[in-house]
Amino acid sequence: MLGLNKLVHIVVFVSTLVLSAIGAPAPQVDTDHSQYTPSPSTGSPAGISSVSAPWHTYEPPAPPGETTVPEVGSFMPAGGVGTNTTPLYRPLSDFDFQSLTLALYQEYIELDLFEYGLAKFSVSEFEAAGLTADDRFLIQFMADQEVAHANLLTNIIGKGVAAQRCTYAYPFASVRDFLDFCQKLTRFGESGVYGFLEHLASRAAANLLLQSIATEGRQQMVFRQLEGLFPMPVFFEPSISQSMAWTLLAPYIASCPQDNTRIAWQNFPALTILNNPNASTLYSLQENGPAVTHDRAHPLSAPGFVLSLQWESPGLPVGPDRSYTTSTSALGPPAYVAWVSQLNTTYTKLTVTGEHAGTTVQPADYVISGTMFVAVVDADTYVTPHNISMLNEHIVAGPAIYQAS
Ligand SMILES: *[C@@H]1O[C@H](CO)[C@@H](O)[C@H](O)[C@H]1NC(C)=O
Ligand SMILES: *[C@@H]1O[C@H](CO)[C@@H](O)[C@H](O)[C@H]1NC(C)=O
Ligand SMILES: *[C@@H]1O[C@H](CO)[C@@H](O)[C@H](O)[C@H]1NC(C)=O
Repeated sequence: MLGLNKLVHIVVFVSTLVLSAIGAPAPQVDTDHSQYTPSPSTGSPAGISSVSAPWHTYEPPAPPGETTVPEVGSFMPAGGVGTNTTPLYRPLSDFDFQSLTLALYQEYIELDLFEYGLAKFSVSEFEAAGLTADDRFLIQFMADQEVAHANLLTNIIGKGVAAQRCTYAYPFASVRDFLDFCQKLTRFGESGVYGFLEHLASRAAANLLLQSIATEGRQQMVFRQLEGLFPMPVFFEPSISQSMAWTLLAPYIASCPQDNTRIAWQNFPALTILNNPNASTLYSLQENGPAVTHDRAHPLSAPGFVLSLQWESPGLPVGPDRSYTTSTSALGPPAYVAWVSQLNTTYTKLTVTGEHAGTTVQPADYVISGTMFVAVVDADTYVTPHNISMLNEHIVAGPAIYQAS
């Protein structure tokens, strides 16, 4: 079988060479990039279409010091990265190791949180919040998903090296607040991964992680539904840096096994939104119980809403065993509030009203929606999802989760 396959590949390769030698139109470089056009060896099998299709104008740039040899195979356009290599499902850099370890810390708290909520509240408390036995089974199943995600990451990082489950401290005492905390925690879990995924050296590990984060994104939506919120009020899920995710996660970790990998990312000073819109108090259970969706005439927050902010000074202990210390790399005074939502980071002016306190106004920008992030910064640096970590050096405090709608 293998031999035959190889033979077919050789025949295809040779026939393409022959076709180009007998005067197939030379590919031209598409300079305006307005439209994707496939390279000559794509399209129909054996590259035959390259003879008669003058619209084949895309020519991939040659990597420096290499000649482009189109990978020729049936239905396999040239240029796929690692399509014919042995995948390395393991960290290939310190960056990989620390990013995957952060993701593992996140999977463990989710596992613990879902189990904790199910154990803490009685059946009658769940029922009073509108959750049925089926809903509770769904939460139990989500805990099972976390076991699988933690196993996956443990295997990628390496058994015996990968961090273990910690103990945690949670800020809720009712079912509604449990659901609210779950939809916020899974939001920064998901967004924290999107911020580093494309920067991992191990593309193979990145994809397996993404396949677990796709599940986590569904969990986030389900918790919003159980809380009675609109399930997905965005077109895109936001991404944040590892240090932003670690800043949001660390306060809820009480203690970790002594030999757990220490997290290398930064803990920024905590930021609190004193008047964060609260679904538990703004929406009554009667009108807004668990549902697939609610069409809301009155959003949780709207442009013009004045946020009251308060933040800590750097240098405070935080995280597991309070063995991490908050810090800031911002050189300037707090001046703006960064709004990280969907694909955009936008800024508003911060009005400083006291020591470590200030206000800002929600901008009139439709991208500000859903469970998203705000941070106090010293500069309104332009960043995109690709380089969101360049905001780290400007963060005075935060991020905090903002409940926009
Ligand atoms: C929302 O309001 C409830 C009820 O007052 C409160 O228990 C809860 O802590 C609030 N949630 C947040 C995130 O502040
Ligand atoms: C989002 O950011 C892009 C790039 O800066 C900008 O062109 C666009 O206007 C922004 N969208 C909104 C709705 O702010
Ligand atoms: C982030 O990337 C965008 C392009 O996507 C670039 O314009 C911007 O300058 C970058 N930001 C920083 C801080 O380098």
